[in-house]
Amino acid sequence: MRVGMLTSGGDCQALNATMRGVAKSLYKMYDDVEIVGFEDGYKGLIYADYHMLKSSDFSGILTKGGTILGTSRQPFKLMRVPDEFGLDKVEAMKHTYKKLRLECLVVLGGNGSQKTANLLREEGLNIVSLPKTIDNDLWGTDMTFGFHSAVEIATNAIDCIHTTAASHGRVFIVEVMGHKVGWLTLYAGLAGGADIILLPEIPYDVDVVVNAIKERTRQGKRFSILAVAEGAISKEDAALSKKELKEKKKNQVIYPSVAYEIGAMITERTGQEVRVTVPGHTQRGGEPCPYDRVLSTRLGARAAQLIQKQKYGYMVSVKGDEITEVPLQEVAGRLKTVDPECTIIKEAKLVGISFGDQ
Ligand code: F6P
Repeated sequence: MRVGMLTSGGDCQALNATMRGVAKSLYKMYDDVEIVGFEDGYKGLIYADYHMLKSSDFSGILTKGGTILGTSRQPFKLMRVPDEFGLDKVEAMKHTYKKLRLECLVVLGGNGSQKTANLLREEGLNIVSLPKTIDNDLWGTDMTFGFHSAVEIATNAIDCIHTTAASHGRVFIVEVMGHKVGWLTLYAGLAGGADIILLPEIPYDVDVVVNAIKERTRQGKRFSILAVAEGAISKEDAALSKKELKEKKKNQVIYPSVAYEIGAMITERTGQEVRVTVPGHTQRGGEPCPYDRVLSTRLGARAAQLIQKQKYGYMVSVKGDEITEVPLQEVAGRLKTVDPECTIIKEAKLVGISFGDQ
């Protein structure tokens, strides 16, 4: 029995831990299982870059960050577009799968990767997928592996800023990953005690943000800390179409990222000194936290069970405390965003955190 495996899209901390969970369970279930590792995600499947993995390859990797297989971004929207040499990528992936006589393909990936996994399912391949991303934005699962490890790193960044902010009496902005979805910023912001949290799902009003800072100053607080998602957006910009926004940005000062833009706006309106910290890709780096190690091991074991039952076309997922699975066609193309009316936002507002909306 031969099983293919690949890790796709941006990496995260518990990819190796998850592959280990799948592999260890499969080795226990079957005497004759062979695992084929595709290099750099779907690229390896397209161009038949792979190597046979041994049981020893999965030893000692529970705590190791990154991915032993390598990864790359292969945009879903380009999957049906031939490569520079005219190669049909979907046909090439099917060809590799069939040539290797795979029983199934195990895909560890985020949103785009799940869409491609679903496309391969539609093309007749046996697929089992696992929910990977620090953004926790996959529909159909309460939790993705990588999220809690990234929360720890982003929280640690805010914690470190707290001590220096208190000494200097400045405004500090920590920019947290998440272009479309703000779970990571919300959790890290709450855990780090940020005063203002700006998320892509809750467009901010500049005046409200400025007033929240001024109010803290009035109360004698020496500093303010903002946790800002990469995709935070103002109310004015959120009301524009993509085209209008592009046009508007053309005539504006170009900032390295949204945190710098918000920082400049705060200085202009309050006269206060602002410093920006961008932890960036450190949020995806290092060891998985204990929560993710447990989650990955459980998800991996469930994926192996699905293979044993030949139950294909599913993404393994978390519902409450249980590990279950959801059909890939339900997951593909759907995002799990932060509902501005959800209880966690309401509770955060009760303790006085501003989301820049009111
Ligand atoms: O999908 C995870 C994520 O970390 C996002 O939060 C982030 O915006 C993006 O990937 C950055 O990815 P990269 O720079 O690796 O393309």
